[in-house]
Amino acid sequence: MNILVIGGGGREHAVVKALKKNKTVEKVWCLPGNGGIAHDAECFPIKATDLESIVAFAEEHRPDFAVVTPDDPLCMGLVDRLEEIGVPCFGPRANAAIIEGSKVFSKQLMQKYGIPTAEAQTFSDPASALAYLKKCEYPVVVKADGLALGKGAIIAGDLAEAEKAVREMMVDKIFGESGSRVLVEEFLIGPEVSVLSFTDGETVVPMVSSMDHKRARDGDEGLNTGGMGTVAPNPYYTPEIADVCMKTIFLPTVRAMKEEGRTFKGCLYFGLMLTPKGPKVIEYNCRFGDPETQVVLPLLESDLLTIMRACREGTLKEEMVKFSSGAACCVVLASDGYPRKYETGFEISLPEMQPWEEIYVAGAKTADGKLVTSGGRVLGAVATAESLAQAVEKAYALADRIRFENAYMRRDIGKRALKALK
Ligand code: AMP
Ligand code: GLY
Repeated sequence: MNILVIGGGGREHAVVKALKKNKTVEKVWCLPGNGGIAHDAECFPIKATDLESIVAFAEEHRPDFAVVTPDDPLCMGLVDRLEEIGVPCFGPRANAAIIEGSKVFSKQLMQKYGIPTAEAQTFSDPASALAYLKKCEYPVVVKADGLALGKGAIIAGDLAEAEKAVREMMVDKIFGESGSRVLVEEFLIGPEVSVLSFTDGETVVPMVSSMDHKRARDGDEGLNTGGMGTVAPNPYYTPEIADVCMKTIFLPTVRAMKEEGRTFKGCLYFGLMLTPKGPKVIEYNCRFGDPETQVVLPLLESDLLTIMRACREGTLKEEMVKFSSGAACCVVLASDGYPRKYETGFEISLPEMQPWEEIYVAGAKTADGKLVTSGGRVLGAVATAESLAQAVEKAYALADRIRFENAYMRRDIGKRALKALK
């Protein structure tokens, strides 16, 4: 089998490595990939959003299967385009990817089908949004409807902050058309859990749960980032809560999408908050999370390609998906200054690896035969172990052996999870 993977981050590196465990896989192409992925796949500098070039590449190389992981190409309809030319894909079609692409759509879906989520109002003109804000209790969450690089949700502590967010999104259009409509949402309290799931549109099989660390600094302070580290499993996500989520959220969502004529096939990501009134959906993503994937896939004992093909064929079964009972931790090494200004171009020195260790490269390229930094989040240092405490310790032991000049990492990945275990 020859496989095409679209994307170029740490998540895609984890996907490529997991796919290659299948002995029938001969070749993996990755577009655009990165300097780290280039050790595991043949990379070509075609952007994940350049649909025309990707389709032309697929016409020429005729992959047996394609995996599309980033949100933009999914929402733009890359899966539809590839399926049209006869390339079977893992990933939702555009009409289902809208579950992430439009927060107004997903909120209306949840309201219509009684799926627990934060109360929210939708606005398509700034005047009525601003009038509504005067009547709200604070904090509220102001969200842009469309994709906004993960920055489209503002927690506003008071009226002034909420008004600023609405003006920036709807009038100044800081997220472009994504802010044409906004949601003003009830602020929920509780631990957050990420649950990725495989689905063929009918059957939904959750993966091991995980916990992201979105803020730049220790103690969950500093700016929001793409994610500074993850652990799996998430200790707040007990088997009892998992049962409730399956009945009230996972199955109802997959059925609702089918009912709406938008059958979702691929990885459906549930961003949940475990509130005192039960688990509620904060967001859906139409794809694998980054850096959740970097801790989830190393714990997958079954064959990823078999599962992905079953999702596409509509033959997914629960027993196809087995996870280890162990734990994993991913510590992200970033360029100091991320998510604001940072320097790149520093040579990365990678250590000898142990069997329980993985490095998934995100922002690095090859220059003069050397691996050098090229992005904010440079790579993820991942370790698996029997317990979460050991996984955290081992991930830091690996992270501390990786060197580049301006490396920055949080020192407390997993700390809150370990506290919850006690
Ligand atoms: P989103 O862009 O919807 O993924 O939201 C980004 C982050 O904002 C989430 O991971 C939460 O930490 C926070 N958030 C979003 N919605 C809410 C809410 N209704 N209540 C509290 N926090 C929220
Ligand atoms: N880590 C959250 C996301 O991938 O959106």
